[in-house]
Parts: sequence; C-alpha cells; structure tokens
Amino acid sequence: MINPVQRHFTAFKGELKNLFGFQPGFIFLDLTLGDGGHTQEALEAGCRVVSFDLDEEAIKRAVGFVKAFTPIIVGEEQNSKIPENFSWIVIKSNFVKVSEICDKLSLPKFNGIIADLGPSQFQVLSEGRGLSFSVNEPLDMRMDQSLGVTAADLLKVLNEGELSELFSMVDEPFAKPIARMIVKQRAITPIENTKQLTDLILRVKKFRTEGRIHPATKVYMALRMAVNLERDNIRLLLPQLPDLLQKDGLLGIISFHSGEDKIVKDFIRDYEDRKILCAINDKPIEPKPEELLISPRTRSAKLRLVKKNI
Ligand SMILES: C[S@@+](CC[C@H](N)C(=O)[O-])C[C@H]1O[C@@H](n2cnc3c(N)ncnc32)[C@H](O)[C@@H]1O
Repeated sequence: MINPVQRHFTAFKGELKNLFGFQPGFIFLDLTLGDGGHTQEALEAGCRVVSFDLDEEAIKRAVGFVKAFTPIIVGEEQNSKIPENFSWIVIKSNFVKVSEICDKLSLPKFNGIIADLGPSQFQVLSEGRGLSFSVNEPLDMRMDQSLGVTAADLLKVLNEGELSELFSMVDEPFAKPIARMIVKQRAITPIENTKQLTDLILRVKKFRTEGRIHPATKVYMALRMAVNLERDNIRLLLPQLPDLLQKDGLLGIISFHSGEDKIVKDFIRDYEDRKILCAINDKPIEPKPEELLISPRTRSAKLRLVKKNI
C-alpha cells in the first residue's frame, strides 16, 4: 500500500515551466490537480493558478503538499465573484463544467492549460476504491462518489459481447475469454471484489504477463475508464478549451492510453484544420528515460502541446 503521504509522481515534472514559458503574472489552468505537482510548479514560477479536481480527498492532499500557497477553495455552486488578485483557486468539480464555472466566476482567459488524465497513484493505491488488484476490496472504482454505477454493477449487467468490447478497447488480448468467464462465473456467484476478478483473469490468462505489467492491468483500466466515464469526459472537455485560452496560449494534454491519445489527436487535427490551434510538435512529447526509472507508470505517458492561433 502507498504511504498515505507519498506523493504522486508528476509526469513531465519540472518540464512544464520551460514548455509553457511560465512567468510571473501568467494565469494557468490545471484541470487535474491530483497531488498538485503541476499546480505547484506554476505557482512557484509566479503564475496565478486555477485548479480543478472532482475528488475531495485529492484536493485535501494537494493543499497539504503545496504548503507555501493557500488556495481559495470553491464548489460548483459558487456564484459570487472571486477576488481579482487571487493567487490560487481550487474548484471541486468535474472538468466537463469548466466553461460554465469560469464564466460564472468571471475568470480571465488563460495563458496555459494542462490536463493530466486518469487517476493519481494515490487513488489507485488508496484503500476502499477497488482500483488495485494488490488488495482485496469491493469493486467500486468510482473517483467521484456521486457517480451511480460501480465496477461490480458493470460486471453484473453487461452482456458477454459488451464486456468483450469494453476490454478490447484497452487492447486486452484475452478480452473474449475473460468476458466469457465472467458471465459463466457470475451465474454461480456475483463478482463483487477485486480478489474474485483478479483470480478469474489469472485463470484465463494462465498467469501470462505482458512485459512487466500484471495480467489484470488492462481489465482494471477498462473498468475504471467505463465507471468514471473517462472517454466521454475527455470528448466533452476538449472543445471547451480553445475559447478559454488567450491568443498564443498553450494547451497541454497528457494521456496514458492510445485510445485517449487518439481522441486528443483527432481534436487537434480538427482545430488545426479550422486554423484555431497549431501543434507545437509533430510527435507527442514522451518522458525522459530517467523519469521512467523513477516511475514505470509514466512509460505510456504522451504530452501533446498546442498553441492558440487567434
Ligand atoms: C493523474 S492525476 C493528476 C496528477 C497531478 N498532475 C500531480 O502532479 O499530482 C489526475 C487527477 O485528475 C482528477 N480527475 C480525473 N478526471 C477528472 C475530471 N473529469 N474532472 C476533474 N478532475 C478529474 C483525478 O481525481 C486525479 O486527482
């Protein structure tokens, strides 16, 4: 288990300052606060920062880690104007509401925006969320407790074809036999905890691993993405962002899976065709080898950086 104070390893840590050209007076939007790594880098460079996270626990942790700065913390229901000279605002909300909230709070346009998608290490390893196959817990997987459907619910109601399609979306090579086994198994006992699911996957895959990753990794990722509507959220988020940027403002999206990266790539292509955005690099930026040594999780991280033209 994670030490409760061990901090999430921030992807592209220390690089944002140069990539975004942070300087005092910049206003920066961090759509995925997590343990506050990117927010802290911007604050320490003298930027004013607006940070979003839907997870209350993540917000508490970030405020604890970024001790030198004190945020104004608000919820979605906040209606009154924020003092114009704020240095850090934290908003507890799903980022899909970003336009509506920035409008309501009369926030200025941003010089830079970052979204670092997926869960933090803290969320994956913290007790009671059912996101890790290393401990036996109920298969919940919700990052936002107001969501109604858990992973155990999906394993109960999706039919074999739907389960197989879900696992195929994350390129799980055993998608079909795992789906078949789930349907067979649940006719005997409902699959409600991580041990049941992990054992079932291990039986189907005969303990085969793909490189260094655990055989259950992809199935867990597929369920987490579905429970938290992660792909839908990205699709709803991206078209809102160009309007929130100032001219020449930069937008960076960090994704950890080819399916997410494709959504980002298609969005960028569309906005490039419309001459609204232009990509800074032809290829996404990948982590440096030394980062991979510290955090193997970042091996699949891709950062796409684009600039607003108009
Ligand atoms: C990978 S972590 C960010 C880590 C952060 N950059 C750091 O350095 O510590 C992603 C964070 O985004 C949050 N998140 C994921 N989806 C979200 C959404 N739709 N709206 C708001 N926050 C979201 C998660 O709760 C999590 O805390």
